[in-house]
Amino acid sequence: MLNAKKIRADFPFFKQKLKGKPLAYLDNAATTQKPRQVLDAMQEAYVARNANPYRGAYALAVEATEAYERAREKVADFIGAEPEEVIFTRNATDSLNIAANLVCASRKRGSTILLTEMEHHSNLVSWQLAAKRWGHRISYVKVKSDGHLCREDLEKKAGMSPLVFSFVHVSNVLGTVNNAKQLSQLAHENGSLACIDAAQSVPHMSVDVQKLNCDFLAFSGHKMLGPAGIGVLYMKKELQEEFEPLFGGGEMIKKVSLGGASWNDPPHKFEPGTPNLQGAVGLAAAIDYLMGIGMENVERHCQGLAAYCRKELEGIGAQLYGPVKGAGIVSFNVGNIHPHDVAHFADKEAVAIRSGHHCAQPLMNALGIAASCRASFYVYNDKEEVDRLASAVSRAAKALG
Ligand code: ALA
Repeated sequence: MLNAKKIRADFPFFKQKLKGKPLAYLDNAATTQKPRQVLDAMQEAYVARNANPYRGAYALAVEATEAYERAREKVADFIGAEPEEVIFTRNATDSLNIAANLVCASRKRGSTILLTEMEHHSNLVSWQLAAKRWGHRISYVKVKSDGHLCREDLEKKAGMSPLVFSFVHVSNVLGTVNNAKQLSQLAHENGSLACIDAAQSVPHMSVDVQKLNCDFLAFSGHKMLGPAGIGVLYMKKELQEEFEPLFGGGEMIKKVSLGGASWNDPPHKFEPGTPNLQGAVGLAAAIDYLMGIGMENVERHCQGLAAYCRKELEGIGAQLYGPVKGAGIVSFNVGNIHPHDVAHFADKEAVAIRSGHHCAQPLMNALGIAASCRASFYVYNDKEEVDRLASAVSRAAKALG
């Protein structure tokens, strides 16, 4: 396990106490805290380097452009992409909406989009809207009660050659890790594009787009120690020429006349308007921080905490969902107690967990539940915090069960 106490010392957030107690922050699938290194890098980018990238010939503007492009290179390196394949967006949701609209707009009406029942609403409502707008239909791969995709249904539906198969790498509810490489391959074998919602995988494990051989991959900065408001859409180089940009504005053009415009080279073609320089710099600093720890260590640590958490919660009679071996996410219920009540009970003990449908209502329906509690771990969590969660849950069960 990582030395979580030492890591926590880098996070100003953890200096505060909640109700006189140190906060056990176990809602990292929602968002993560930021280390001093990220905050300092962003502060420096505001204080000393704040100019509009690409738009000025003076030294500060050139420095701003270079800092933004360095951040792009850092992200590209981190996921095994070429820098021009990295498009900065607002977050994973934004990235998936862009991918959905680009793909849906580019093909004749009446195609099928393949998703799964396991998707977060960001990889579901985005495609539903785009499919409706451009006249396509959607089909969903079923999820089994053990939290895995139904293989038979997957092969049948992927075999019908949908336009695109867009799927989640790691479920934000169950921690299920889908075999993204295999799923991309299946998509390609059937002539489909492969799009991956990697919001919960890129922060937690080593992800390489070359190995996965996907066409699109989306993630957010704020779930990996970086700031909110910056996200990434990886788009394979071969595809970039094919798509017309969705949004117009400054810097995405080569030439503009009153009669029309021609497009800048990718990725700029897909990045209209003033870029989020400080967000990109913060994300690059977060990547440095994570690489300092090592993604294998991040993954092992979070999986270890999830396994320990499952054991502790099972020991006090909680109902667990999802696979025994998954990512650092544990979903559970306690008898008939409403998850919000359990979360309020934990909150009184300064333990933060999420409760509700986790922006995945179709998955909840597939599991036959309305809501669950969810603990999700990151590099600054430790077993002691899991013990605090387990004792709060146990007290909730006694008081409300
Ligand atoms: N996607 C985030 C979550 O699962 C918000 O909590």
